[in-house]
Amino acid sequence: MLSGEVYYPSEEVIKNANVKNWDELNERAVKDYEGFWEEMAKELHWFEKWQKVLDDSDKPFYKWFTGAKTNIVYNCLDRHVKTFRRNKLALIWEGEDGQLRTMSYFALHREVCKFANVLKSMGVEKGDRVTIYMGRIPEIVIAMLAAARIGAIHSVVYGGFSVESLAERIEDSNSKVLITADGAFQRGKIVPLKQIADEALQRCGTVEHVLVVKRTDQEINMESGRDLWYHELMNLPIATQNCALEIMDAEDPLFILYTSGTTGKPKAILHTHGGYMVGVYTTLKFVFDIKEEDRYWCAADPGWITGHSYIVYGPLLNGTTSFMYEGAPNFPYPNRWWQMIEKYGINILYTAPTAIRGLMRFGESWVKRHDLSSLRLLGSVGEPINPEAWKWYYRVVGNEKCPIMDTWWQTETGMFMITPMPCVPLKPGSGSRPFPGIQMDILDEDGNPVKPNEEGYLVIKTPWPAMLRTVYKDPERYVNQYWSKYPGYYMTGDSARRDEDGYYWIIGRVDDVIKVSGYRLGTAEIESALVSHPAVAEAAAIGLPHEVKGNAIYTYVILKNGYEKSTALIEELRKHVAHEVGPIAKPESIEFVDSLPKTRSGKIMRRVLKARALGEDPGNISTMED
Ligand code: WT7
Repeated sequence: MLSGEVYYPSEEVIKNANVKNWDELNERAVKDYEGFWEEMAKELHWFEKWQKVLDDSDKPFYKWFTGAKTNIVYNCLDRHVKTFRRNKLALIWEGEDGQLRTMSYFALHREVCKFANVLKSMGVEKGDRVTIYMGRIPEIVIAMLAAARIGAIHSVVYGGFSVESLAERIEDSNSKVLITADGAFQRGKIVPLKQIADEALQRCGTVEHVLVVKRTDQEINMESGRDLWYHELMNLPIATQNCALEIMDAEDPLFILYTSGTTGKPKAILHTHGGYMVGVYTTLKFVFDIKEEDRYWCAADPGWITGHSYIVYGPLLNGTTSFMYEGAPNFPYPNRWWQMIEKYGINILYTAPTAIRGLMRFGESWVKRHDLSSLRLLGSVGEPINPEAWKWYYRVVGNEKCPIMDTWWQTETGMFMITPMPCVPLKPGSGSRPFPGIQMDILDEDGNPVKPNEEGYLVIKTPWPAMLRTVYKDPERYVNQYWSKYPGYYMTGDSARRDEDGYYWIIGRVDDVIKVSGYRLGTAEIESALVSHPAVAEAAAIGLPHEVKGNAIYTYVILKNGYEKSTALIEELRKHVAHEVGPIAKPESIEFVDSLPKTRSGKIMRRVLKARALGEDPGNISTMED
């Protein structure tokens, strides 16, 4: 018997699940870890086989499937168009304006090849970086796969980011080509992507060509010689639907994705073709229990790792039909999602706690007016899900028959790391145990495992196939940030506890990362945006609990001499942060202060600010300057 509140899967669920016995699978994976992953890898296509499954001769620079040749795009598309799946829908897409587009595997393969030829004609070669900055439209998927097909490295920047975030990422990745759209629809309004891109390009000088998808159709600036329309390029004779696929080494880079960490600028996490492919394929198949007839919906954005792994690569590797929706969950009414689940007969819904809490506020009648009986599995990701939201999701959306897969993972891990499977008993608020074979632990400051139910640092003790390989251009940062606190162990940056049943309960970040509505932001990005305003001398940002967003951003600002505190200035600063970083980074509050708590070496003590704001005891403040 398991302790606490437990939801056991029904006989029916277990009978139909891809994995019927978790313990058996785990035992197999623990006993022969490499053999387990090798067996999974064999379900995919390789042009040449590996010499070694895991090469750990240069820790922590682990390599997987060394010597093997593949290309993830071959496994996502080419493999399927040779079978009955050529006629199967790869993508069903609905625009916020109600527009519907569908694409078979054959059609997606064709569009990807055509666009890959376009990229080639722009001089894009193997190893080149290509930045993609778009909304949730099919072309973002096409652009990612086209880049990967020819061996280029894509760097997707989330469409909710703004000028400085985009400029910084283009500059750091040294991209020659930027793929964007005129705009994106969001809550009935237009996000002016191209206009933001134009401003960003004034701040960085690497881009030679901007390829623009027409989506919102408002007037935009097109710089002659630099900017080209996607639809015009796709109609050129060079855009044929035959495009040779680049044969990649398993360890060749597939993409970089910027994410926030402790101090400083966002870092580019690097993932590869081989191991990432095997990890993402396997985890989606087992956890979301993918079946041939499924219609699967991951409601995240392709611009984050969730979208990379589980909207684009995972579903296509599994040959499933993926649904994608462009807009906001409550537009024009709070039943938008439920309406689409009914309309398209969605079987699996994977979203974030913040979305559930947001929709919960409108009440269950919005859900209940729709027939959601096609659903058989639900998922959650991005932040801890509070049991209240879990139970609402389970009861109201899942009608008490859909297990909830609360998946813990990170941009860095590439794939699910702590997660249930449909056959696993669930405890609301816990992602249950690590994926079969993966060893994790919770340690105290000195590296000793903590007792059951005690809080500590969450670490990963085994390498895994979809793990990040490095921080792009900064291997030192890779070693320092992830592998040096406890040598040999990967440091997640989260704190957690583990109960007597071995179930993990994530508490939150222990570094300078703030999770706002599941989005990962760094205090440094918000602070540097504030300081870039002429009125600001110094700034500090912290995250404080928020009912819907999980955390909200609170900031403290010291003004430069000659500037007056005013509510107008507060509004101006909030807008400034939204303009520089993105609307998701807009501070909930800005408080003007005369000083900030700092250590003697000048580091801001955010912990003290947090304790003050929450009316708690700040703890040890002996390192604080007067
Ligand atoms: C951080 C990683 C990879 C998915 C999207 C987020 C938090 C993620 C959970 C979960 C509790 C979670 C952690 C983690 N997180 N999933 N199921 N329960 N916390 O990726 O932006 O790289 O953020 O998100 O704090 O470290 P990310």
